[in-house]
Amino acid sequence: MEALITILPGDGVGPEVSSAGQAVLEAVAAEAGHGFSFSHQLAGGAAIDATGNPLPQDTVASCLESDAVLLGAVGGPKWSDPNAAVRPEQGLLALRSELGVYANLRPVVVLPELADASPIKVEYLDGVDLVVVRELTGGIYFGDKQRDAESASDLCTYTVAEIERVIRVAARLATDRRGKLCSVDKANVLETSRLWRDTTNRVIAREFGDLELETLLVDAAAMHLLSRPADFDVIVTENMFGDILTDEASMLAGSLGLLPSASLGDSARGLYEPIHGSAPDIAGKGIANPAATIASVAMLLRLSLGLDEEANAVESALHSVIRDGARTADIAGPSDTAIGTDDFTDLVVRRLSRTA
Ligand code: IPM
Ligand code: MG
Repeated sequence: MEALITILPGDGVGPEVSSAGQAVLEAVAAEAGHGFSFSHQLAGGAAIDATGNPLPQDTVASCLESDAVLLGAVGGPKWSDPNAAVRPEQGLLALRSELGVYANLRPVVVLPELADASPIKVEYLDGVDLVVVRELTGGIYFGDKQRDAESASDLCTYTVAEIERVIRVAARLATDRRGKLCSVDKANVLETSRLWRDTTNRVIAREFGDLELETLLVDAAAMHLLSRPADFDVIVTENMFGDILTDEASMLAGSLGLLPSASLGDSARGLYEPIHGSAPDIAGKGIANPAATIASVAMLLRLSLGLDEEANAVESALHSVIRDGARTADIAGPSDTAIGTDDFTDLVVRRLSRTA
């Protein structure tokens, strides 16, 4: 098949991990006879430096023309002045909004070989296989903001329609998995959460009667994620709770550098990004873990291009190099020799060339 993929390297380790992602896509194309073309565009701090705008119009146009978008990461100390008028993160939020990708899927699996890399006791990790579906284009991230010398406010708003559509994505996913959905809110305090809970209960009762629905308050969910992580199948929650809970959940897998994500809307076009940030402390050193981006590429192949076989091949290549002992610094144990981003990626590409 022919596909156009926009690559947004962004900032920090973003260029390193996104070029790893591109190398894997090129290997898939070569093996399976696909014609993938790539359009590299500016986003985040790199775009502010070049154009003054964290999401230039050319970038938006390229993304809208593409079948999928692969993003590295945005942000960094250079653009973190609290009084700055424009920030890299604004570009990412605007991109999510422009693309209409309201459902952000963040799968968390624990590879037995990496259980030691997790700070959680190994007996809690057996069988962990969950997906967090994070609402991505609403809530407090997108509400009106105000600031004066004495006070500040961020408005959190949700509409019934915004809640319904993301709940349906999560419920369909749970139906295809183990049939369990956990909705996370703060309904004992927040009005938006009470709307979230009522809407969830109604959508599930009317449309997904076979699902097992559990509801948790976000503080309890944070605790249950550590005390009984293997019980969860699909977790659905609003934008900010999902942001926080997925960083927590990444510790089950062992490193933030392992978790991919797919952001989807009503069309096949999706935005794919590792859940980690730009990691400025290790940027440019060639040591970032590309696994999260490579796993995001697998999601891109499956969810935007419909290439299931190729997606499976990427996932098994990634898992098999980890099983055989390849470790970047973030997941290396005391007796492992850590390898860099490019060497790790080469191993995956070589494995793929034998299996795809
Ligand atoms: C994420 C990140 C972003 C978010 C930042 C960079 C704006 O933390 O994708 O989880 O908060 O959504
Ligand atoms: Mg985050």
